[in-house]
Amino acid sequence: MADGPVAQLLLQRLEGGDGGLDSLELASTLGLEHQAVVGAVKSLQALGEVIEAELRSTQRWELTPEGQETAQFGSHEARVFHSLPPEGLMQSELMVDSVEDLVQAKLQLVQDGEAEHLSEKERNELKKRKLLSEVTLKTYWVSKGSAFSTNISKQETELSPEMISSGSWRDVKFKAYNFSSKGVLPEGGHLHPLMKVRTQFRQIFLEMGFTEMLTDNFIESSFWNFDALFQPQQHPARDQHDTFFLKDPAEALDFPMDYVERVKRTHSQGGYGSQGYKYDWKLEEAQKNLLRTHTTAASARALYRLAQQKPFSPAKYFSIDRVFRNETLDATHLAEFHQIEGVVADYGLTLGHLMGILKEFFTKLGITHLRFKPAYNPYTEPSMEVFSYHQGLKKWVEVGNSGVFRPEMLLPMGLPEGVSVIAWGLSLERPTMIKYGINNIRELVGHRVNLQMVYDSPLCRLDT
Ligand code: PHE
Repeated sequence: MADGPVAQLLLQRLEGGDGGLDSLELASTLGLEHQAVVGAVKSLQALGEVIEAELRSTQRWELTPEGQETAQFGSHEARVFHSLPPEGLMQSELMVDSVEDLVQAKLQLVQDGEAEHLSEKERNELKKRKLLSEVTLKTYWVSKGSAFSTNISKQETELSPEMISSGSWRDVKFKAYNFSSKGVLPEGGHLHPLMKVRTQFRQIFLEMGFTEMLTDNFIESSFWNFDALFQPQQHPARDQHDTFFLKDPAEALDFPMDYVERVKRTHSQGGYGSQGYKYDWKLEEAQKNLLRTHTTAASARALYRLAQQKPFSPAKYFSIDRVFRNETLDATHLAEFHQIEGVVADYGLTLGHLMGILKEFFTKLGITHLRFKPAYNPYTEPSMEVFSYHQGLKKWVEVGNSGVFRPEMLLPMGLPEGVSVIAWGLSLERPTMIKYGINNIRELVGHRVNLQMVYDSPLCRLDT
């Protein structure tokens, strides 16, 4: 059986006749919509050489909706005449005795497919009155192809497990993909590009066996955001210029106090083989509430929780959530953005493990050329910035920051000696902007976002 009944009819007509046939004529002899025949032609074309179809365009005159009404009920003038009351009108008002509705007659000619009996002038007059319009019609001239047959087997559209196990897939013909057909428009809402890319990152982490960390607090204490990370209290990043502090509630009150003591000692006197920073560490400074400036605060909480579980077992954590910084706003910076963070804790992890895992992570994103550059973070040693070669921009761009967490951070938490923790972080906005070709971050986030951009963003991207 061919693809459908119309296609089968078309093949039969072709077999019977000599030469070819016109899709529009076939539609009218079969009493079908032209579109149904066009569909059959296309499905037969997809089979290869069964038919040959040549696209032709012809000009045709058609009645407009008003023209159709006029052809049926008469011209406006004639209708006025026929609606005169039987008792008549004053002679002075009625100038004619009878009318011959030429307009209606002409339109009926067109309706019967005999527009050629009208002169060009007549057609143009009717066109000016918007009763007639000239349309371009695309039709197919169809003839037999080199592999013509009326007996065409249905093409398979899906490969089934049965075909694989029986081996029958070798003999069936598969229907080719039509990459230029329009997709079905989704009726539901549209995800913002950031949310789509977030899903992609989450998927990558899950494939790599990572567990999502709790990140459900935008408000954090300075303690978890800075102190727990061995970041000294006079560090410039804590300055009002970089951090949004909270007025109300201004302080956090609930801390694991024995851990706080160990953090205080490590900062002020050292310990665990470190000299510390040798300054007067103050609880009041650690209590100051702020909008978290990085998701590493959530990683610190997760690692502290992990340290409380005895015996220690290795862990792989990730998070993707929002952070806040008091930045000067420009084309690539906003006061809030999203960070992606990965953390692995196990005995004996080294910089080599970090480089290997970064390679795996970025390869899953389609980024294969990585370079590492030594960097500085108060809480990691060593630290590395990660760069990737961007084919489009033709330069190396920074794609992330990473490092091995310092013992001054891990040991006060209670993690066993010998356990090291490697971690990396990157923003969600940057890869999203690169992927979606957005140059100004304000077109992606904030009040200037064009909803049409969200609507038009592809559901998936096939990057090569
Ligand atoms: N917290 C760092 C930042 O905000 C990223 C990072 C995470 C660096 C983990 C090292 C380890 O940029």
